Amino acid sequence: MRVRFTLNGKETHVECDPGDRLGFVLREHCNVRSLRLDCAIGRCGSCLVLFEGLIVNSCIVPMFRAVGADIMTVEGLYGTQSLVDVERGFERASFEPCQYCACAKALLTHAIISETAEPRRQELAVQAQTVRCRCTSYRQFVEAIELAAEHRRANDER
Ligand code: FES
Ligand code: FES
Repeated sequence: MRVRFTLNGKETHVECDPGDRLGFVLREHCNVRSLRLDCAIGRCGSCLVLFEGLIVNSCIVPMFRAVGADIMTVEGLYGTQSLVDVERGFERASFEPCQYCACAKALLTHAIISETAEPRRQELAVQAQTVRCRCTSYRQFVEAIELAAEHRRANDER
């Protein structure tokens, strides 16, 4: 099956089986190195992508669903102010995720603050757990997202 979709703003096509999982195809066929495939059953969030603007675990999305879809990975943010906002938030909160989950957490943060200019702490406490992590505190991640949102608002006002 030939599947066409948009990846980080570029039209892309791959040859794959309809049931192949998006996360594997992005890594193996499209050289997307930012996403990790850990659990491969939709539980850990390390394979997050933005799919039609929504956060999804790409390891459980079959390729037949990706036909014509608009997909973004963190590579799509490279060189943008949006990523700088996220990085500033992380820095100010002294939040240093490991290399394994940093891209997923950056993309998640971007998605949250793009959707909601002033995210509520209660909701963030739940959203932050989309990317599983046993080594840093979710509270610190929540603070990092809040500070990233603050940067985003400041930039939007300019
Ligand atoms: S690898 Fe996709 S959710 Fe864990
Ligand atoms: S899994 Fe990366 S900081 Fe916990």
